[in-house]
Amino acid sequence: GSDGEAAERMLGFTAVAAASGDTVVVPAGYTAQVIAPWGAPIDALAPAFKADASNTAAEQEQQIGDNHDGMAFFGFNAAGNGFGNRSDEGLLVFNHEYINPEYFYAVAAGETDWTTNFTLEKARKGQAGHGGSIVHVRRNSGGAWEQVLNSPYNRRIHGNTPMTIQGPARGNDLMKTEADPGGIEVLGMLNNCGNGRTPWGTYLTCEENFNGYFGWNGPRTPSALENRYGLTAAGFGYRWHTVDPRFDLNANENEPNRFGWIVEIDPFSPSSKPIKRTALGRFKHENAELVVASDGKVVVYMGCDERNEYLYKFVSTGTFDAANPTSAANRRLLESGTLYVAKFAAGSTLNDNMGTGTWVPLVFGENGLTTANGFANQGDVMIRSRQASDFVGATMMDRPEWVAANPKVPGEVFVTLTNNNRRGGTTSNNPDGSTAAGSARPPVDEANPRSNNVWGHIVRWNEAGGNASALSFNWDIFVLAGQPSVTGARAPSANVTADNLFNSPDGLAFDSFGRMWIQTDGNYSNAGDFANMGNNQMLVADPATKEIRRFLVGPSGCEVTGITWTPDRKTMFVNIQHPGEVGSGSGRHPRISADQTDAQIAANPTMLSSWPASQTAGATPVRPRAATVVVRRSDGGVIGG
Ligand code: FEO
Ligand code: CA
Ligand code: CA
Ligand code: CA
Repeated sequence: GSDGEAAERMLGFTAVAAASGDTVVVPAGYTAQVIAPWGAPIDALAPAFKADASNTAAEQEQQIGDNHDGMAFFGFNAAGNGFGNRSDEGLLVFNHEYINPEYFYAVAAGETDWTTNFTLEKARKGQAGHGGSIVHVRRNSGGAWEQVLNSPYNRRIHGNTPMTIQGPARGNDLMKTEADPGGIEVLGMLNNCGNGRTPWGTYLTCEENFNGYFGWNGPRTPSALENRYGLTAAGFGYRWHTVDPRFDLNANENEPNRFGWIVEIDPFSPSSKPIKRTALGRFKHENAELVVASDGKVVVYMGCDERNEYLYKFVSTGTFDAANPTSAANRRLLESGTLYVAKFAAGSTLNDNMGTGTWVPLVFGENGLTTANGFANQGDVMIRSRQASDFVGATMMDRPEWVAANPKVPGEVFVTLTNNNRRGGTTSNNPDGSTAAGSARPPVDEANPRSNNVWGHIVRWNEAGGNASALSFNWDIFVLAGQPSVTGARAPSANVTADNLFNSPDGLAFDSFGRMWIQTDGNYSNAGDFANMGNNQMLVADPATKEIRRFLVGPSGCEVTGITWTPDRKTMFVNIQHPGEVGSGSGRHPRISADQTDAQIAANPTMLSSWPASQTAGATPVRPRAATVVVRRSDGGVIGG
């Protein structure tokens, strides 16, 4: 049918079956093309990728980083010199969340594994593998998408790129270091997970598990602030603190406070300095879903992805000038505003999977956030957003990941709650065996209704009056993932069927037609609780009918994360992160767990995945590489329609 008809069909494609292969599977009538894998040159001057991972730190700074995550496509204008609405050429901006050291470093002769002879050069290469990439892309005359290497827009932003600290935390005592006594500039951004975008053509990128890069040498008693954000002596095992004093808390105890923020980047200004927007709070940020509320305020929804953490939204002080989207005034809207945290209540009827909620402001001097209670000023409230939320009694959620707003229903918003093995019961039934203070288990509540929530769920809420800046809402549960054969307290919702099994919803985004795309980062063992779910995947939901249909399956060991479209919705970009990562998904994230040994990697030359090479007939098995997948419909129609 015509494109108009295709756009009207919410789920117009044939579902794909669950799969456990080492390829990307898309529906019949669709194609999947790989571009911009880890290590590919960022521009025409950059060095080629070395398949044995022996590229240096300086070379990695000129190559695509590792483990692609959140992503946005910004079409060019007609003149090809700025932000516009073109669907054949633009800037693809995406995050590099972390590295898999077992694939990221070459092991030299005589070395046992990547940890042998860990040097500052290795730390610098790791830092260069993080951050983001701005990639000029276009659809060529043959219909394929390609990097435009001879372009001034191509840019790597990484763990040592200078960034401005803006907002209430700028100049705060907790932000000052010996290298930056004013607390106004930080080097780099780390663990950039989900993303957002603004109507003025900038990219928002979200620092998540920043704590994993820090550690300390010698004895240290961590502060309450360090404990609350999960800073430990060895971090996640990246070893940077052993060679780079910036990451050693005993040398630079305030450096971690300069991470965990939302960063705004102007991709059309290659010399622009990224800005950490501290009015949006500091926590383990997943994504940043920006909507213009019906009253003109700019609202940014954000989750803090850790067990029993919180859901937030920022509301700007100023209002959006819709007549001049890229105006100077609009471009300053994230400079000041109010951060709120969500409280969910059961509502007037108990145990009906719906209820009411309120947004509580995190403002110094209000709600007990005062000096008497240990908060020094607004910058302090932002740096310690988690403690401020604890203090006001916000609702602990089952790991809030991405938030997505329905473009067809003003004020309707969804959040993925990926899983939580610390909910309900007592510490004695923590599956991970932990009984430490931080392993406390809040009871089940209506919005987080399952003890040991292994499959995850999605909550929907509707802001009062359809206005995203409202301070109250009604909510319901959109889907409880799981196995339809399971009944009782662990049962999934009725929209989970044998044909759409999945676990651990994570990425979440709407296209402009109102389809809701769900990406998973979970257990891909395909056994037990996870039988018949296969590899991590992407599904599409009709928000009105709640029908869910599987659209894409990723290769072995990966997570599917990051999604964006050209303005005409005829090209979709999706990221494949950590193909070949050892472990069973949700237990492995965050990374470098004990289940992953270099001996395991060494014993398996295909390293459990050879994607994307595995999708090329006759290719020799090589180390896996995160990459972007370009999805098109063979008939050129709207994706999903
Ligand atoms: Fe980086 Fe919460 O996923
Ligand atoms: Ca209720
Ligand atoms: Ca995620
Ligand atoms: Ca996840």
